[in-house]
Amino acid sequence: MGSMIQVKLPQKSYEIVIQPGGLDSLGARMQGLDLGKKVLIVSNPTVFPLYGDRAIAALENAGYQVCTCILPDGEGYKNLESIQKIYDVAIAQRLERSSTLVALGGGVIGDMTGFAAATWLRGINFVQVPTTLLAMVDASIGGKTGVNHPLGKNLIGAFYQPRLVLIDSEVLNSLPVREFRAGMAEVIKYGVIWDGELFAMMETQPHLDQMQYVNTPVASGETLINEILIRSCQAKADVVGKDEKEAGLRAILNYGHTIAHAVESLTGYTRVNHGEAVGMGMVAAGNIAASLGMWSEGESQRQNALIQKTGLPTQLPQDVDIDAVIDTLQLDKKVKSGKVRFILPTQIGVVTITDAVPTTTIRQVLESMQLKG
Ligand code: NAD
Ligand code: GLY
Repeated sequence: MGSMIQVKLPQKSYEIVIQPGGLDSLGARMQGLDLGKKVLIVSNPTVFPLYGDRAIAALENAGYQVCTCILPDGEGYKNLESIQKIYDVAIAQRLERSSTLVALGGGVIGDMTGFAAATWLRGINFVQVPTTLLAMVDASIGGKTGVNHPLGKNLIGAFYQPRLVLIDSEVLNSLPVREFRAGMAEVIKYGVIWDGELFAMMETQPHLDQMQYVNTPVASGETLINEILIRSCQAKADVVGKDEKEAGLRAILNYGHTIAHAVESLTGYTRVNHGEAVGMGMVAAGNIAASLGMWSEGESQRQNALIQKTGLPTQLPQDVDIDAVIDTLQLDKKVKSGKVRFILPTQIGVVTITDAVPTTTIRQVLESMQLKG
């Protein structure tokens, strides 16, 4: 049966289904949603050999006609050329307005499939089957889709919601540990910005740095990983349901991301991955809030300890130039009228948005976080 979370939206609401082993019910879950008969699975050469056959069988057993588009793996291929490849298959396979794209992969595949769905024939159905922890708790929910421009990440895109998100936590068993930890950064984010109970639950765990430690039962009867998924997805659904197009509240989902985007960009998007950068960004934002007297030192230290427990780095790489970080902040999509906006915690589970952080404070915090030679 699994757990169901509704993303309630004015136009079209949809369900997030969290079910261990749920990949095999993909076709059955899609039935009843009026998703046509033709399905194009978009995936990559890492994920498809692991889960492609099961996804195809689940769809065919439910009567769907299935075709596939396998794109190269990696953020470097999140571009318009890959979108063109999806369109090429869509035209060759005669996909219609009623047809459906299924994203089988991490956030890169999910963002691209969503963008192709948003634009092909001015919008066809799409379903998210996220296979990384980060995509399960964040990228697959909420309708932000798109690709990178050579000069900036995610600059081309559309808000376009999936019709269903199907999360099978068992596929995380094959996820490399570094990717697992990257996802835990976003989970901790929800604990700090929205769900203090999630934060407290994770604090009580002795280990959080590998899938094997979270695959264990907790008081609710769920495994810890499913409890983490349920609470994180609920947090994202709550926020997106209140502010689909980021007119206000949704910006809190960018907690830790202001500095993270600068670090990712200055390290070439490969050396430090997104989740690692978000971990560093949350440490920076927490330390800024504490030095401005907005957050207690004790809670900020609790956050940093939790990030450390997931095995994520909490210090800035030695060779990242702090002036360059501060300059890069100005290029962020979240800059409004030339002012950098920060999401800062005031207590665990509550954040505020401010553009009144002095550059001297940002500099001091970043310097204190930098690894020394
Ligand atoms: P990713 O999609 O690159 O996946 C990471 C790696 O894990 C890849 O090599 C992938 O092939 C592999 N992989 C995926 N699932 C696997 C599995 N089950 N077993 C083994 N290997 C597996 O990275 P990601 O962290 O999932 O996503 C990052 C992307 O998501 C970025 O492009 C980012 O911009 C985007 N994103 C979007 C949103 C949004 O709201 N749309 C939010 C956060 C991030
Ligand atoms: N990942 C940020 C958002 O979905 O708004």
